[in-house]
Amino acid sequence: MSNPHPAYWGVVPAAGVGKRMGADLPKQYLQIIGKPVLQHTLERLLSVTELSAVVVALGREDGYWPDLPFGEHPRILTAEGGKERADSVLSALDRLHGLAAADDWVLVHDAARLCITRADVRKLIETLRHDPVGGILALPSSDTLKGVENGLIVDTVDRNHVWRALTPQMFRYQALRSALREAAELGLTVTDEASALELKGETPRIVEGRPDNIKITRPEDLPLAAFYLEQQCYE
Ligand code: CTP
Ligand code: MG
Repeated sequence: MSNPHPAYWGVVPAAGVGKRMGADLPKQYLQIIGKPVLQHTLERLLSVTELSAVVVALGREDGYWPDLPFGEHPRILTAEGGKERADSVLSALDRLHGLAAADDWVLVHDAARLCITRADVRKLIETLRHDPVGGILALPSSDTLKGVENGLIVDTVDRNHVWRALTPQMFRYQALRSALREAAELGLTVTDEASALELKGETPRIVEGRPDNIKITRPEDLPLAAFYLEQQCYE
């Protein structure tokens, strides 16, 4: 890698509809302790001063974004999201064309992970900054995991070999963009950035994250997220 001082960019896919949440608005706009989910997430990312700017991918029909206080924000850019999460991330990366250098770092973080801490983002950056490929925050599994077919257990997975993928996921700008593009061209579904790099034969690094970095997915996650946010005593 040629540049000794690559920049860091944030990408936040926020163009989902929140089907499993089943609310009457997308889950990233639900209020939790007085603020929309997406506002919590972005304020926390913006407090990481290493990030030059954060690109938010928004749904085409999103009428809620203008009510958030980021319209004129100097470190927030927007892009139009796509059909799948990977399409939204790719669109945000396209928005960085001409701004990000090939070997700059991109940290992709789900809008729905509002309990992300500065400490975890900095841990990811500090661990990976000299890595050629990059990696992700992840959690070891504390439960025994079962392989299941038609409702029957067919095997037990060695839990020492299984981690739960979280975000942010941190990769080089050009490598991530071309990996996601190729996956899309091949019609392969990638549910996170690491899988796109894995398809290219890379072996992204694991960085152990905090268990409170949950993704709100179903209604029962909302009080848990509120509890974590209050526990964290963020300023
Ligand atoms: N996302 C996106 N574009 C999509 C789909 C998802 O930007 N086409 C974003 C979501 O807004 C969310 C993140 O990717 O912040 C993780 O996705 P997920 O938790 O699955 O959110 P939704 O797709 O909205 O939820 P569901 O799958 O229940 O519909
Ligand atoms: Mg989804």
